[in-house]
Amino acid sequence: MNSRFLKKIYLLPKWLLELVSWGKSFKNNPIIGSFWLNRCGLHVARVVIAHGLFRFRLFLLSPLIPAEDRRHFRKYGFVLKRNFLSSDDFEKLAHELQNYEDGGREFVEGTTLTQRVFLTGAEREKMPSIRALIENPKLDRLMRYCSSKNRRPLYYVENLCNHANVVPRPDPQRDMHADTFHPCVKGWLYLDATDDLNGPFVYVPGSHRLSWRRLKWEYRQSLEASKRGEARDPQRYWDGSFRVTTADLEEMGFEPKALHVPANTLLVANVYGFHRRGEAREQSHRMTVWMQARDNPFNPLFTLWPRSTATMFEWGWSKVLQKLDKAKLASGEQRSFVGKFTR
Ligand SMILES: [Fe+2]
Repeated sequence: MNSRFLKKIYLLPKWLLELVSWGKSFKNNPIIGSFWLNRCGLHVARVVIAHGLFRFRLFLLSPLIPAEDRRHFRKYGFVLKRNFLSSDDFEKLAHELQNYEDGGREFVEGTTLTQRVFLTGAEREKMPSIRALIENPKLDRLMRYCSSKNRRPLYYVENLCNHANVVPRPDPQRDMHADTFHPCVKGWLYLDATDDLNGPFVYVPGSHRLSWRRLKWEYRQSLEASKRGEARDPQRYWDGSFRVTTADLEEMGFEPKALHVPANTLLVANVYGFHRRGEAREQSHRMTVWMQARDNPFNPLFTLWPRSTATMFEWGWSKVLQKLDKAKLASGEQRSFVGKFTR
């Protein structure tokens, strides 16, 4: 037996586990990326099952939020709340974040410098307005419902510095894409108003739903992504976040919408729906409290303990981040900033 074969045997349990969880890499997982299996409908089957279970969990969690919000989320793929906090609470939050001094991670995409702070329990201890936001029952219930997992998300502060004086890199955020093959949500509370100057979030309303056209598109994309070697476009498909062209969007009957919103707007979006970061015309900033709630799409159940499960996820994700930090800092892909966010 040669060493490659032994390595495959060793990795098989990991690959199988990824197959029945959130694994999406067509490059790193030869089962997910198998041309033959995808020809037989593996990818499409994962998409359909994940969506069916998502809808089932949403149905059970219906009592968490008002019917109007549920309808909007199911129909368009996002919920948008202007003036989310009282102006007094919002001012306090903005002041707290602008005066945050402990630094964090930063990296470059395109010409944008992204500064991000992962809000662990220890960080939140120092941030009373962030604690109040996280304890806000409207936000809590909305995120627990939209994630379909009844769990609190992971919280970050994200500060985008558009047209920063950096060496440009490829920018995956500007391409219209779906984050992954299953429904999952991200949330943003905007500290700055967004417009064409600082790059609005662009979403394609309704593109989170499974239509026959979308399923055919998913099937075609899965075969493209399963190609090996020179046949595959190295930029586009390896990670399982499929990019979509304008022509494909038109064929599916979709129209992107740039969400120009005032400060103090909350947006919660299903990022299986197509989206991208809109262009920023000028050197500018865009700060948000950013929330992410990705979970195993094939687990039909949700937690009954939203807080303690969130604490467990936060602990686990901290460990993963620490590991990723080492590699990214060493390669120069990421660095640490000290002091305040750049504004
Ligand atoms: Fe995305």
